[in-house]
Amino acid sequence: MVAETYPWTQVDYSSWHGSLLMGEPVKLRQADLPKRWYRFFEGLGLRLHPAQWEGFAKRNRVKYYLCGRRWGKTVVGVCEVIRHMLETPRARVLYLAAHHDQLDEGIGYLRMLCEAIHEHEPALHWLDRSGSTRAPRIEFGDGTIYPSVFLREGKLRGRGYTMALIDEAELMEQAVFEYAIQPALGERRGELVLLSTPRGRSWLYEYVQKAGGIILNYPTWTNPMFPRL
Ligand SMILES: Nc1ncnc2c1ncn2[C@@H]1O[C@H](COP(=O)(O)OP(=O)(O)OP(=O)(O)O)[C@@H](O)[C@H]1O
Ligand SMILES: [Mg+2]
Repeated sequence: MVAETYPWTQVDYSSWHGSLLMGEPVKLRQADLPKRWYRFFEGLGLRLHPAQWEGFAKRNRVKYYLCGRRWGKTVVGVCEVIRHMLETPRARVLYLAAHHDQLDEGIGYLRMLCEAIHEHEPALHWLDRSGSTRAPRIEFGDGTIYPSVFLREGKLRGRGYTMALIDEAELMEQAVFEYAIQPALGERRGELVLLSTPRGRSWLYEYVQKAGGIILNYPTWTNPMFPRL
């Protein structure tokens, strides 16, 4: 295989081997601060690929992962949620996806990682308190995750959140975003992570630029696990 280098950081992809929750668990190393989160996820068996890491390492309040299909958006989004939950006292995270299967996929990753964290930190429990209600709620540590599909605006109103993650964000209507998401975050200057595949310049792109957020634009090939033809 021809060694491909990533133009921004000159990372050599051919020497990188990814594994999602299959890698050798390593002991969590707290000392290595700049790479602390990388090591943390590695300790859980997830190695972020170099482009995911480059995006994740940026600390902007508003982030827009505008990346190719199968790049690893949902996985890195889940990592952003975990970092927020572990850094923010009594975090309240709104986790949104366009459809129930996407929601289940994201919450599935989140659950896997949170359960792996529980192995290292027995005090942190994943507690799904959704029961049979239509307003699902998951507790992890002292934080709460509110998963939802973003079909209806009314359903999303009424709570203040410390973070919102929106998967397939370009499918959300601008009105839903403006009336439901923005005010719900505004109260606490919450973090906003948007994930989507580029489909031309949308209102969302303009919003992120105006909000002083960062747009992380990576093509699918920067995921070294994506099969080469
Ligand atoms: N760092 C990683 N290590 C190992 N596997 C990964 C990693 N990141 C993503 N994957 C795997 O790659 C695949 C694509 O990841 P993910 O679903 O996050 O991509 P996506 O960009 O959200 O895709 P889609 O465009 O379909 O929404 C999944 O099977 C996921 O488990
Ligand atoms: Mg996805």
